[in-house]
Amino acid sequence: MSFREGEFILLVYEDKRYLKRLTKDFSLNVGKDVIRFTDIVDKPPGSSYRGFCLLKPTLEDIILLGFERKTQIVYPKDSFYIAFKMLVNRDSRVLEFGTGSGAFTAVLSHLANEVWTYEARAEFYSRALKNWEKFGLCKNVKAFHMDFLQAELEESFFDGAFVDVKDPNPYIEKVWKVLRPGAILASLLPTANQLSSVINKLKEGFCSVEVLEILHRYYKTNPERIRPKDTMVGHTGYVLFARKRI
Ligand SMILES: C[S@@+](CC[C@H](N)C(=O)[O-])C[C@H]1O[C@@H](n2cnc3c(N)ncnc32)[C@H](O)[C@@H]1O
Repeated sequence: MSFREGEFILLVYEDKRYLKRLTKDFSLNVGKDVIRFTDIVDKPPGSSYRGFCLLKPTLEDIILLGFERKTQIVYPKDSFYIAFKMLVNRDSRVLEFGTGSGAFTAVLSHLANEVWTYEARAEFYSRALKNWEKFGLCKNVKAFHMDFLQAELEESFFDGAFVDVKDPNPYIEKVWKVLRPGAILASLLPTANQLSSVINKLKEGFCSVEVLEILHRYYKTNPERIRPKDTMVGHTGYVLFARKRI
């Protein structure tokens, strides 16, 4: 399908990536090249124009380049792995809190039948809704502006849960109640101190505790000089998984 006015386009120029909305007055200058609306509209994805490659953005492009962030987000390097590992599929109903900027919700939403997400702070809640609306995402998400502890939920209601709050411990018992037996609880914890306190808490009703870290190192793609890029994101968080035991 060709590019249409109003949609988002990814423009790749050498190692630079730009996510832009295609409006009539659109123009972008990079190096010695300039590209305008009329150079893009009605062209199919994959077309080239001067030094630019014209592409449809992926979910990763949208999250990293398009989402406004008022909170720390779960980066695709972590979220893509976590969401698959949670055994989320087209039949699953999945829980998440807090919603934050809605980045992890967007990944879960792609895989699950239904996502229920809770955000306690009004400004973050409305930012997440705006991010999803801007890119037409998360149509299968029920978002609640609410502290998760206030939510009235049936027992064994969810097929998986992702907990992304500063201190998960006060919520673990409630998460246990609302998860189906054997379902996965996942979390992302920035510090080792948090990790040891949560692992202690999980002894009560969970088994199969796993902790890992995902290190992501990009490479320069000059075929004559393949080598890692000079800088990398050294740490985002420890990824934790555990399964509800009865
Ligand atoms: C690190 S952010 C989540 C980022 C999000 N996972 C993303 O990828 O965009 C943590 C969020 O949890 C929210 N939060 C903290 N405690 C909460 C609670 N008890 N119920 C609901 N939301 C909560 C905070 O307001 C904050 O927005």
